Amino acid sequence: MLNPIKLEKKHFLSSLDTSFDEFLHILEIAKNFKNKDLNFKLQDKVLGLIFDKSSTRTRVSFHVAMSRLGGTTVDLNPTTSQIGRGEPIKDTARVLSRYCDVLAIRTFKQTDIEEYSKWSSKPVINALTDLEHPCQALADFMTIKEEFSDYKKVVLTFIGDGNNVANSLILYGALLGVEVRIACPKGYEPNDLVINRAKNIYKNKNLLKITHDPISAVQGANVLYTDVWSSMGEENQKENKDKNFLGFTIDPNLVRNADKNAIILHCLPAYRTKEITDEVIESKNSRIFEQAENRMHVQQALLACLLS
Ligand code: CP
Ligand code: NVA
Repeated sequence: MLNPIKLEKKHFLSSLDTSFDEFLHILEIAKNFKNKDLNFKLQDKVLGLIFDKSSTRTRVSFHVAMSRLGGTTVDLNPTTSQIGRGEPIKDTARVLSRYCDVLAIRTFKQTDIEEYSKWSSKPVINALTDLEHPCQALADFMTIKEEFSDYKKVVLTFIGDGNNVANSLILYGALLGVEVRIACPKGYEPNDLVINRAKNIYKNKNLLKITHDPISAVQGANVLYTDVWSSMGEENQKENKDKNFLGFTIDPNLVRNADKNAIILHCLPAYRTKEITDEVIESKNSRIFEQAENRMHVQQALLACLLS
């Protein structure tokens, strides 16, 4: 029987914290959980959740994943815990990791989640930072694998802001050998360090393309992906961004320029009419709700592997 294997790294803070083989293993475990072919338990283990930003999918999918594993979850709200009062991360991390077996944290700065991991005696999972959303990218590539068995034949086009979701997609894309095209307005390119790390992994293959032209970026693409133009924490940029992102909406016209069997992904929540139209979300090519479901299966697998 397939059994979860412990990951080399203690923490999961970035897409690149798993090797290629570990990534495939997590997806295999996730598939087995999804098909109810694996009965692996983390009896009595406790997951601590810290969310400095709002969440529906990540919060609930972690809760349910842990519950399916036979464990429990403690959900900490910064406004009712001492986190919001400014208790230092190094104190919170040392205390919580004496109670909990694993922590999943959604916060602003990547350096803050790194600080948690430095002081926590238990694994820390990145449940979204301004820089990355690696749990989301795991679910995204699981959804892509359900449609296209060979990653090396996939062209993934992300249209919109070069944000946390784009960064994690780029890094896994590089690890898996997927051609990744990012179409964003000038000034909204993904993080430079992320681009450089991805290019180093791709070596001399020119498989990461950053462009400002959505129509050319979707030609022949198998996967069209978008996310909100203004992420959490960028509320004050909304008006400006709404103007600068005109023309970067996934609408039926853009979809027509992609491969005819292209699937549509969005991490959700979506602003229908801004980054994507209602018609495209509800179209037969949309896999957005399968993608949301897969969050739970990959996180169940990730917990199993981190705590094995
Ligand atoms: N996609 C995602 O992370 O959704 P939530 O913000 O609802 O968790
Ligand atoms: N880029 C978005 C993703 C939300 C799941 C944000 O950070 O708000």
